[in-house]
Amino acid sequence: MARTRRSALDFRGGTGSISLAQLAAILTVTAQPLCSDFSGARFLQLYLYVHRVAGLEPGVYRYWPEHAELEQIRLGDQRVVAAGLSLGQDLAGNACVAFSMIADLDRAVRSYGDRGYRYVHFEAGAVGQRLYLAAEALGLGATGIGAFFDDQVHSYLNLAPEQGQVVYHFAIGYPVPDPRLGA
Ligand SMILES: Cc1cc2nc3c(=O)[nH]c(=O)nc-3n(C[C@H](O)[C@H](O)[C@H](O)COP(=O)(O)O)c2cc1C
Repeated sequence: MARTRRSALDFRGGTGSISLAQLAAILTVTAQPLCSDFSGARFLQLYLYVHRVAGLEPGVYRYWPEHAELEQIRLGDQRVVAAGLSLGQDLAGNACVAFSMIADLDRAVRSYGDRGYRYVHFEAGAVGQRLYLAAEALGLGATGIGAFFDDQVHSYLNLAPEQGQVVYHFAIGYPVPDPRLGA
């Protein structure tokens, strides 16, 4: 699985949903403990831009891993917004679900000083790789998105500066064929 997973160039927008069970499986892997030699603490919150998940209204949701709950933040079609916030990359709108990873940088820096900034990015990378593998295991595609408009993301998610800062975006859905692969 780790060998076959590739980043999707884009996703098939418009058709095909993932199930709620698939989304739950994806979210569950993000909440598993992370083993590292520097910190067991977690600093990330996941916000979801739900486009096409059967049984879940399109909108923005915050994931609460402690109770495996989704809190609805906004209702309505998020495809244009998700793509726009991701530096205008269509794949964030064509996915079934896109993510903003929001890091509690203040808490990380209180715990670890300047290293906290690096640690939240380690955590985002580890969560991202789990998302890649979970998507692959479910027969879906995924793409990490490192390009986004920070201030606009904070404003859209109604995040005050002390609530966290965006460090990574992600998208999962049905990938378009990649002509570079399969030779
Ligand atoms: C941290 C990170 C940020 C990325 N940002 C973007 C992005 O903004 N847009 C995009 O299309 N792909 C993005 N990618 C996907 C990379 O382009 C892709 O991982 C790279 O081409 C290697 O391909 P592979 O993942 O199939 O091995 C990102 C990947 C990572 C790990």
